[in-house]
Amino acid sequence: MQKTKFLITLFGLILLGLSGFVSCTFENEENYFNQVCDTTNLVYNDLTYIFTNVCASCHVSPDNTPRTGITMGNFEQVKASVLTGKVLPAIKHEGNYKMPAGQAKLSDCDIEKIEAWINAGMPEN
Ligand code: HEC
Repeated sequence: MQKTKFLITLFGLILLGLSGFVSCTFENEENYFNQVCDTTNLVYNDLTYIFTNVCASCHVSPDNTPRTGITMGNFEQVKASVLTGKVLPAIKHEGNYKMPAGQAKLSDCDIEKIEAWINAGMPEN
């Protein structure tokens, strides 16, 4: 009798462990899918972690930029810079200038987000 109880308990524990393992696997899969690049409803503030934090460290202001007309300090400046048509090719590394200069290329998702935001008409908020 003791042995049966022990075996049932053991079996239960194994099942519990297995279900834990399976649900864990599914959670990971869910995380995996949640990480799909979300490019919907982006506004300027969603992208300042790129424009402000990365680009504006060099393209600071109209008086302080390595390239006239390319300034990333605020919304109006980013918009005007994009309208030169030079920003997308630069971040996609499609032309002579590869931005951010001297740093790793932006992630595919970051580039997709910027492109989606531009296609949506560059909404500020
Ligand atoms: C480390 C400094 C630095 C950073 C960071 C940087 N840039 Fe630049 N950027 C430059 C320099 C320098 C030039 C001018 C290159 C030259 O004339 O050789 C330039 C030029 C450009 C140009 C003009 C390209 C052309 O076709 O004339 C664009 C557009 C641009 N940058 C966009 C960006 C964007 C967008 C970011 C952020 C993702 C960024 N840059 C980050 C230094 C930087």
